[in-house]
Amino acid sequence: MKQTAILLLALPFWAAAQTPNKFVGGDACKVCHSDVWFNFYKNPHFKTGCEGCHGPGGNHVAAHGGKATIRAFSAMGPEQVLDTCLECHSKDMSRANIRRSEHTEADVVCSNCHSIHKSPTPKFLLANRQKDLCYSCHASIRAQFEMPVKHRVNEGVIQCTDCHNPHGSFAATWGTGSSSALVTTALDNEEPCLKCHIDKRGPFVYEHASVRVEGCEGCHMPHGSTNAKLLRRPVTFTLCLECHNGAGSFGRENTGVFTQSASHNMLDPKYQKCTLCHVRIHGSNADPMFLR
Ligand code: HEC
Ligand code: HEC
Ligand code: HEC
Ligand code: HEC
Ligand code: HEC
Ligand code: HEC
Ligand code: HEC
Ligand code: HEC
Ligand code: HEC
Ligand code: HEC
Repeated sequence: MKQTAILLLALPFWAAAQTPNKFVGGDACKVCHSDVWFNFYKNPHFKTGCEGCHGPGGNHVAAHGGKATIRAFSAMGPEQVLDTCLECHSKDMSRANIRRSEHTEADVVCSNCHSIHKSPTPKFLLANRQKDLCYSCHASIRAQFEMPVKHRVNEGVIQCTDCHNPHGSFAATWGTGSSSALVTTALDNEEPCLKCHIDKRGPFVYEHASVRVEGCEGCHMPHGSTNAKLLRRPVTFTLCLECHNGAGSFGRENTGVFTQSASHNMLDPKYQKCTLCHVRIHGSNADPMFLR
């Protein structure tokens, strides 16, 4: 008797109503849920069957339906949805990452982005085309991709997920931000930018320390900008002089990053075009001043 009681307590919530609950197989669902059933053979979950997600259907069929007799996602909180999907998907994505991701913490879970039965994009079962899905909650980001200089996300050249992992990320904090911004990583825990801009990868004999330390975002806006080359400042030299100003305690002599050389006559407009001479600004194999 005692044994049975313990067993009952250990059963999940959806089975508690009536026990024992049995698996009855997906065919049993066909009669009443033909709308869901008819194209399920195309679903990547076909082999898991209906009950892989909704749990055993015995009681539900016996009761001729009802939300209380089966695992109904419409009655679940975010945490339960997450747990149900992770029963099978904890191997594909790091459980630790997804648990502490900005999305999970904001109660945005699997079923907010994926639609098992009504996906318009059979690939990845997304609830909407990717950019529309992301913009549906991140409306302000759309404006950034409409700026004069931008990564062509709206035009379909690249996608949000080329740089972000909506499931969470191992990435260190790039730039000065305090969150990982779900930024994904390329090989060797590098910034995702290097997947495509491979010429910026190095290693260089002479590195520009800022590229490695502060990352690409030290100088570039990742989404869009009104400045050429997605730069953070409209005029290149103001960008350079933000760091090269001899202030603070950064730099190899702890005296701040040195100012431009005394040989530079800043009244001569020529000298304001820093990258006219410092052409290998991302790093060089030939010159410590990045002149070639
Ligand atoms: C991979 C998990 C999964 C599998 C497998 C699955 N479902 Fe669902 N089902 C869901 C989720 C999640 C919802 C909530 C709506 C949504 O997000 O699409 C749902 C919703 C439903 C609904 C509510 C109506 C609706 O369309 O929203 C019914 C009925 C249903 N499923 C029946 C079935 C049947 C029948 C099968 C097998 C043919 C099945 N499900 C297989 C996850 C699954
Ligand atoms: C005899 C008809 C019948 C059969 C057979 C049946 N269902 Fe249902 N099902 C219903 C009815 C009726 C509801 C209640 C709908 C409501 O309350 O909105 C329901 C609700 C559900 C829901 C909850 C939908 C929601 O609102 O989130 C799920 C999930 C579901 N059924 C899955 C299944 C699965 C899986 C099977 C096969 C194992 C199955 N059903 C077999 C009639 C049936
Ligand atoms: C914020 C939106 C979002 C949330 C939340 C989300 N996903 Fe995804 N998921 C996506 C997008 C977008 C893709 C497509 C990625 C691509 O295009 O490379 C994807 C891809 C996938 C894939 C296939 C490729 C892969 O990365 O393995 C699986 C499986 C998956 N998601 C499962 C889940 C599960 C399970 C959950 C909940 C634990 C979840 N997703 C939560 C947006 C999301
Ligand atoms: C019973 C196990 C199981 C459960 C529970 C489950 N899945 Fe899956 N899922 C699978 C399997 C198996 C595949 C196919 C994997 C493959 O083909 O590599 C899959 C594939 C996927 C894919 C990838 C589709 C693609 O095109 O690559 C997504 C997205 C996904 N599942 C989301 C979900 C979500 C969201 C939930 C929760 C509502 C969920 N799954 C629950 C087993 C499961
Ligand atoms: C080229 C790479 C790249 C692409 C493509 C990209 N992002 Fe980003 N995104 C980043 C980086 C890097 C950061 C971190 C910025 C920082 O630290 O200064 C970021 C930050 C963010 C942030 C947090 C900061 C903010 O501005 O609110 C959100 C939200 C965001 N991205 C959403 C999106 C969405 C939605 C898409 C697709 C429509 C997208 N991103 C496409 C690289 C990218
Ligand atoms: C259902 C709404 C929803 C959807 C869909 C959604 N997000 Fe989010 N996202 C949020 C919320 C809420 C947060 C946490 C609060 C915030 O920072 O805006 C967040 C956070 C983020 C962050 C971190 C922002 C930061 O400041 O660190 C990034 C990056 C991001 N989302 C990208 C995406 C991408 C890419 C997609 C599409 C694959 C997507 N989101 C889809 C709601 C959503
Ligand atoms: C998926 C590939 C891909 C990724 C990842 C990527 N880019 Fe790009 N990037 C491009 C392409 C393609 C262009 C060409 C411009 C266009 O699409 O019109 C470009 C252009 C640029 C430009 C030059 C813009 C101009 O006006 O000439 C800069 C700067 C840039 N990317 C920086 C970055 C940074 C920083 C990151 C990481 C946050 C990054 N990219 C990630 C593909 C990528
Ligand atoms: C110290 C500031 C700085 C950092 C850090 C930086 N860039 Fe740049 N980047 C520039 C400047 C300045 C230009 C414009 C060069 C010019 O005007 O000739 C540029 C131009 C570019 C361009 C377009 C022209 C070209 O050379 O292809 C791309 C792409 C680019 N950067 C990618 C990156 C990536 C990826 C990273 C991170 C690995 C990065 N940048 C880090 C300053 C920087
Ligand atoms: C985000 C900060 C930052 C920005 C912006 C920046 N730099 Fe630097 N730069 C550094 C640091 C840090 C060093 C290495 C200083 C050290 O080792 O003490 C450095 C080194 C250099 C050197 C190498 C000199 C040597 O003696 O090793 C040159 C040349 C240089 N930067 C030029 C530029 C130019 C031109 C720009 C604008 C396109 C620029 N930097 C923008 C931080 C920055
Ligand atoms: C006309 C070409 C030219 C332009 C334009 C130019 N530089 Fe230089 N820069 C050089 C040369 C050559 C050197 C190495 C010899 C020297 O110190 O004069 C150098 C050296 C440097 C150094 C290293 C100084 C040291 O003591 O190690 C820094 C930092 C630097 N430049 C930053 C800048 C910045 C910032 C700008 C834009 C405001 C700029 N440069 C514009 C040619 C140029």
